Amino acid sequence: MSSSVLLFTLLTSFAVVFGHPHTHLEFRATPQVYGHCLNSNEIALTFDDGPFQYLRSISDQFTAAGAKATFFFNGNNWDCIYNPDRISDIQYAYAAGHMLASHSWSHPDLSTLSRTEIHDSLYRMEEAFSRIVGIKPAFLRPPYGNYNEDVRSVAAARGQSLALWDWDTGDADGNTTAQSKALLDDIANAKVKNANVLSHEVKENTATELVPYALDLFKRKGYKLVTIAQCLGVEPYNAIGVRQQPSSTWTCNGAPAPGAACGGSIPCQTGTPVFSSAPSTPSNPPSDGARLIKPKASSSTCLTAPTNANGGAVVVSPCNGSASQSWKQIGQVFVVYGNMCLDVTKGSTANGTKMQIWSCNPVSPNANKLFTVTSSKQIQWVGQGKCLDLTDGSLKSGNKIQTWSCVNGNNNQAWNIV
Ligand SMILES: *[C@@H]1O[C@H](CO)[C@@H](O)[C@H](O)[C@H]1NC(C)=O
Ligand SMILES: *[C@@H]1O[C@H](CO)[C@@H](O)[C@H](O)[C@H]1NC(C)=O
Ligand SMILES: *[C@@H]1O[C@H](CO)[C@@H](O)[C@H](O)[C@H]1NC(C)=O
Repeated sequence: MSSSVLLFTLLTSFAVVFGHPHTHLEFRATPQVYGHCLNSNEIALTFDDGPFQYLRSISDQFTAAGAKATFFFNGNNWDCIYNPDRISDIQYAYAAGHMLASHSWSHPDLSTLSRTEIHDSLYRMEEAFSRIVGIKPAFLRPPYGNYNEDVRSVAAARGQSLALWDWDTGDADGNTTAQSKALLDDIANAKVKNANVLSHEVKENTATELVPYALDLFKRKGYKLVTIAQCLGVEPYNAIGVRQQPSSTWTCNGAPAPGAACGGSIPCQTGTPVFSSAPSTPSNPPSDGARLIKPKASSSTCLTAPTNANGGAVVVSPCNGSASQSWKQIGQVFVVYGNMCLDVTKGSTANGTKMQIWSCNPVSPNANKLFTVTSSKQIQWVGQGKCLDLTDGSLKSGNKIQTWSCVNGNNNQAWNIV
């Protein structure tokens, strides 16, 4: 599960890779192998082997420091990437602008696998990223830093560059936290032009001690803490689309166990996983753009989705025109944040069901996301006789909106879309 270092081998490889200019065609044939950052005065702090329980804390610490982190995820290693907690943590870190990349499905030594097995290990991560966040990863960090020509060419065929590192905190190799800190001091004292630093998201001491130490140290020394893509001056992803609806197929059951490869009872996947592109803007956008949705009782109160995440609540709060209040009506769905839809939680028809937002493809939404606006200004859940309802008639900021049986003339169910 941990990464060991073959630094000298790697440095030799870098020398070879960086020794030759790469044309675009060569790049397609053989992926770029990045060990170092390229930009001056930038440091990329990178975290392998998650997602795990410290992801959110590391994400928050970077965000608070105005810094960006890079996470190299496995699908099935310390945890299953489809654990609902991990799904929401990943979406959280992505929304915060941190970079996500592949560390293979099960953390095998890819250089010992067949090409088919390598394909499978990369495919499963592409599928997870497509499902959970709607991105195509552009970077692979091979476990243990081990790769051979097969790893390089399969990664290239799948559009991924290899990202190694040039400093290792040793946090997964038995270094004490004090030793890891000393290593960070070495980097700072060496006044390096840039650095690409390896550490591990799954280590508690890394999350609680090393991260705050590194953020403070490198900021004091005047470095910018950026993603790997940024310090290389390249795009972090091959494509950005929309995430998918979770389903029972989102599981690590029947997929390679930690350290294992496909084969036997586990079919090897070598194709391209389903990817949902962002819905294209209609060529004749309805007169709208984004609208505010206000309860009839108050022109200064707006329907708001304060949290851009699956399951985020829908409340009323003072209108301020922010993204959380900007709703686009596309067909029968109300979209906020570009790819989140107004959604009846769990499709429940019970009176008092609270509304949420959930990622969606407005072109093929499920039934819980379909609403029509009536002439009496009700927002009706299509086919259910239920209407959006201002809970208890309260305009208090944060009051969660519900559905209730449609009642004509009920002011709590009248909304102005402006
Ligand atoms: C452990 O930390 C020391 C610095 O204290 C560093 O020289 C060494 O490279 C680290 N070990 C690993 C495996 O990175
Ligand atoms: C607008 O209001 C929402 C909900 O209260 C809040 O989350 C957001 O930070 C506000 N934005 C601005 C720019 O004031
Ligand atoms: C929901 O509320 C309406 C009117 O307020 C009531 O007539 C109806 O029976 C309620 N439905 C359920 C399932 O409780």
